[in-house]
Amino acid sequence: MFYKLSTRGIATRVGNLAQKTQAKHSAAVSTENARSEAVFAREQKYGAHNYHPLPVALSRGEGVHVWDVEGKRYFDYLSAYSAVNQGHCHPKIIKALIEQSQKLALTSRAFYSDVLGEYEEFVTKFFGYDKVLPMNTGVEGCETACKLARKWGYVKKQIPKNKAKIIFARNNFWGRTLAAVSASNDPSSFEGFGPFMPGFELIDYNNTAALEQALQDPNVCAFMVEPIQGEAGVVVPDDGYLRQVRDLCTKHNVLWIADEVQTGLARTGRMLAIDYEQVKPDILILGKALSGGIYPVSAALCNDEIMLCIKPGEHGSTYGGNPLGCRVAIAALTVLQEENLAENAFKMGQLLRSELSKLPKDVVSVVRGKGLLNAIVINSKFDAWDVCMKLRDNGLLAKPTHGDIIRFAPPLVITETQMLESIDIIKKTILSM
Ligand SMILES: Cc1ncc(COP(=O)(O)O)c(C=O)c1O
Repeated sequence: MFYKLSTRGIATRVGNLAQKTQAKHSAAVSTENARSEAVFAREQKYGAHNYHPLPVALSRGEGVHVWDVEGKRYFDYLSAYSAVNQGHCHPKIIKALIEQSQKLALTSRAFYSDVLGEYEEFVTKFFGYDKVLPMNTGVEGCETACKLARKWGYVKKQIPKNKAKIIFARNNFWGRTLAAVSASNDPSSFEGFGPFMPGFELIDYNNTAALEQALQDPNVCAFMVEPIQGEAGVVVPDDGYLRQVRDLCTKHNVLWIADEVQTGLARTGRMLAIDYEQVKPDILILGKALSGGIYPVSAALCNDEIMLCIKPGEHGSTYGGNPLGCRVAIAALTVLQEENLAENAFKMGQLLRSELSKLPKDVVSVVRGKGLLNAIVINSKFDAWDVCMKLRDNGLLAKPTHGDIIRFAPPLVITETQMLESIDIIKKTILSM
């Protein structure tokens, strides 16, 4: 009797304690979450609904980690769509930003600055082109490349007025402007935004026969393509594809434009993804990590034969080539080189893919990528969004792209210890599905 009573007594006490702890915990959780909830609610109320973010409200970043407003730490496995290759708030890039912002931030291109030429020399020598045209966002870099190609088509290739065509690969993504969505075959990008840019045509990605066919048209001035299609779900073409693209474009006197806005700057384990095939496009577009996520900086690089087709007053941007962006870009490129980030991305990517391919195939059906631009395909039994929510709960941020695909692209400064720690989170999450 005594025993039973005391057992009941203890049980009751434990029960009360558990209840109290749980109540305290839920109160704490709701108070803590209240800060995140407030962030979500304010954006929802005052911002356009043109994004569907994962519910996490970030307030700090350093290296491979970000922290939410409640102080919880996460691995950032998106890296702002590969803009933060050098890691969040890299001290050298921040130093360049602070120092230059205290001297001179913006002149516009109405005047010279003492930094633009230094940057132009630095970036052209870095990538081996005669000239650079500096812009801000990736889409502006791509738009610049299209304008350069059209102008070259009229001036050099003698394409009849307003007849120039640019070929793109199906499932390309290069931004959200009207020109960019005119090149898209994704209805959520273009539906409701017509009429569209004429002179844009699509062929299948990774299909050189289709390219050869399209290049028969003498009015084609350029073929623009991503060396790996990032937004389409990290679609890696066959080995040799880029070399054949190079050869076909040369054969048909068509410019090859490589959109390396996402794949470039060490992300895929080489400084540029095209370096895997040792080929050189006629126009190279860079963006995102060109500033290490600190400030919008993009660029179109090419040789004089193309670049000098554009004359004063024919293209530009108030902010393009501003002293602040130039200093930041020099620092961002220097960091990539000094810290051997391409090499690290190559090694860490191999480790990541080899571990991910051990995951049960009934949950993760495909693992693909190069360097630290990777994706897993989630079996249709599961929802990629749910997987990302569980990853978030376990301390890792990733985002689905195209339904069942999750991109894994951490900052390239990730160490082996951090890589193994983050792989454990992914494994634990997938095994719990
Ligand atoms: C390959 C590629 N090109 C261009 C862009 C556009 O860049 P931004 O969003 O900076 O305009 C993106 C953006 O994701 C991209 O992935």
